[in-house]
Amino acid sequence: MPTYSSVSKVDVLIIGAGPAGLMCALWMARLGVNARVVEKRATPVSAGQADGIQSRTFEILDSFGLDQVWRESTHVKEATFWDPDENGKIHRSSRVPNSMKGLSRFDCTGTIHQGVIESFLIQAIRASASVPSHPEVIIEGNITPSSLHIDETLIDDQDAYPVMVTLKHFDDASVVDAKSRGNIDESLHKTSFGDDDSKPKYLQNAQPGAEELVLAKYFVGCDGAHSWVRKALGQEFRLRGETTEAIWGAMDIIPVTDFPDIRVRSMVRSTSGGSLMMIPRENKLVRLYIQLTDGLSTNCLLTRSMVTPEMLIETAQRILSPYTIDFTYIHWWSAYQIVQRSGDHFDKQGRIFLAGDAVHTHSPKAGQGMNVSMQDTYNLGWKIGLACKGLVRPTAIIPTYDMERKLVAKELIAFDRKFSELLSMHSAKDISESSVELKQFFKKAPLFTTGIGVNYASSILTVVDDEAYGLAKYTVPGKRFASCQVTNHSDGRVWELHHRMPSDGRFRIMVFGGNIADAEQRFGVNTLGQWLGKTLIPRYPPINICPIVDRRLQTVRFQSELMTPIIEIFLVHTAPRDQIDVLRDVDSTYHPWHPKLGWDYDHIFTASRVATQDNIQLTQSVYRDYGIDEERGAVVLVRPDGYVGMVTSVAAKEARTKICNWFDSLLQGLDN
Ligand SMILES: Cc1cc2nc3c(=O)[nH]c(=O)nc-3n(C[C@H](O)[C@H](O)[C@H](O)COP(=O)(O)OP(=O)(O)OC[C@H]3O[C@@H](n4cnc5c(N)ncnc54)[C@H](O)[C@@H]3O)c2cc1C
Ligand SMILES: *[C@@H]1O[C@H](CO)[C@@H](O)[C@H](O)[C@H]1NC(C)=O
Ligand SMILES: *[C@@H]1O[C@H](CO)[C@@H](O)[C@H](O)[C@H]1NC(C)=O
Repeated sequence: MPTYSSVSKVDVLIIGAGPAGLMCALWMARLGVNARVVEKRATPVSAGQADGIQSRTFEILDSFGLDQVWRESTHVKEATFWDPDENGKIHRSSRVPNSMKGLSRFDCTGTIHQGVIESFLIQAIRASASVPSHPEVIIEGNITPSSLHIDETLIDDQDAYPVMVTLKHFDDASVVDAKSRGNIDESLHKTSFGDDDSKPKYLQNAQPGAEELVLAKYFVGCDGAHSWVRKALGQEFRLRGETTEAIWGAMDIIPVTDFPDIRVRSMVRSTSGGSLMMIPRENKLVRLYIQLTDGLSTNCLLTRSMVTPEMLIETAQRILSPYTIDFTYIHWWSAYQIVQRSGDHFDKQGRIFLAGDAVHTHSPKAGQGMNVSMQDTYNLGWKIGLACKGLVRPTAIIPTYDMERKLVAKELIAFDRKFSELLSMHSAKDISESSVELKQFFKKAPLFTTGIGVNYASSILTVVDDEAYGLAKYTVPGKRFASCQVTNHSDGRVWELHHRMPSDGRFRIMVFGGNIADAEQRFGVNTLGQWLGKTLIPRYPPINICPIVDRRLQTVRFQSELMTPIIEIFLVHTAPRDQIDVLRDVDSTYHPWHPKLGWDYDHIFTASRVATQDNIQLTQSVYRDYGIDEERGAVVLVRPDGYVGMVTSVAAKEARTKICNWFDSLLQGLDN
């Protein structure tokens, strides 16, 4: 056995501090799990790469309290299409919204550079460490793994550390060329910036050259397109798919131009020089994606290494002619070939995982890399985190990661292939024939590209049955639980329901109690409440909540109170507020008593929205948005990642059995 500078244990070891790795680390920080992130670079990215965020990603960041990402990003509200006319001159053929109304309260794409998001995530991870009971999740630079081994005999032992990894430390000087941080195969990355000393640095720990041995319960490879972890897992984990010959360039410039649509997302297809897509960004910057070759024509002697920024801008000028475009400031540029591939396995023996670009790569134009990558680990993080804390049954929950995310990756690649194909058309005939198709594609695309359309298949976590559909038409198991505005029963203040449901590891039971002014309905709701409070909740151990999650909510908390049930219960009813006296009429499970703090006022809401129109007050209920009956209601069980797990009825006795079975299959009970 070689000698190591140290041997240590950690519950979760994450390789790579890109968006995927940091999102995973954020879950660990919030759940109070002992975890480490190791990264080969010394500092976060300073320019280029991913630049856009979609609605679902904003919702996820917001659920961790990172609402500043939305405020600070450029909101891209519109898209335009430019096509050649009969004479080959480009003209605007249409202008459409770059979003779909009603999908999310974050109703469009936002652009912001990857480094900014990474630094927000790092800050949030560090902030969680201020909780005394929470170990700090450290992000260390200048480290790469050098060997990986799994002890198969220990896999079934939940207390064991079956993954053995050696980590190699090196010094700044020997850092692998920062430019090689590519997610598109061997793309060239250039930035006109020098390295800025004010940027956050990762922790530099051991002595260069040292090799340490780490034993981990779970190991997550978020190390990008050239993933070392994937290679170490062997042939079976190879990505499969295609590399196209077409070469594209990307650049961030401050444009000097007379093109009118420079501040909206524009897709320009020309007969004279190929295609181009432009996306407005922060600080007057614009990202241009420029097609350099289509990979088909014979004059295709160009290789990536020959690409220069001058070549990119000349091509852009040809495509945009007779408009002119130039720049005096270039922030970053790159050239790449499109690689559309994904892996067959995201998981090895429930202990080693791949996420983000390490398991799927595609072209950046569909702008999905960072979104999908962060969502991979948003799906995985709570599962392994709660498993480390002994709160969930790992054998039930952990396999759902591979199942759920693999399908998303496959859809992503199919989507990207179609999108790239439509954008790459270059003969006038092809362009005009595909013009309608491109627009229709773009119109339907938001459901997919916003991430809101994701629909996880039926599994132990996602119980799909026909009864459920009848009860809550628009609240479908497998989809994310949508946010609606509800009114605090106690004080009349309006809240986004999502703001009451932060990512803190808890499961939630949303009791849509219906019209509880009706005695029979109220009886059903109270019977359910009593059962939830007296029978269900006491079955499972409590969870230690990180108060940082609630910073924005300014909730009063005492240290001793941080232990809360792992299931949080909400009541959202449709009765007029005046007809219900909560203390008298509603079971105390919905407003628990605390000896020091009195009754709870945070969990009962009314769904009635009072709108005024022509001086007449109209009451309409958000139940309609959920597709729930306003009299009888429904019960929605929500997973810690905000996806609907199950829908059942309020009053039926079988409902209690179903709820109980669902939680028993997922959660570790107190009695075993
Ligand atoms: C030109 C360009 C434009 C793009 N545009 C977009 C866009 O508009 N929208 C979009 O969503 N995406 C875009 N992407 C893709 C996006 O950057 C990635 O999809 C996203 O960053 C993936 O996140 P990740 O965490 O999986 O991987 P990465 O961001 O690649 O992070 C991997 C991390 O692991 C580290 N690492 C790698 N190997 C090791 C090792 N052996 N040991 C330790 N650490 C290691 C790397 O240094 C890196 O920090 C673009 C990419 C490029 C190149
Ligand atoms: C996320 O998705 C949106 C919408 O498709 C896209 O415009 C944006 O560029 C994506 N973000 C990243 C980082 O890919
Ligand atoms: C609801 O109202 C009560 C009483 O004013 C208040 O204490 C509580 O914080 C409110 N909760 C929410 C979520 O609005």
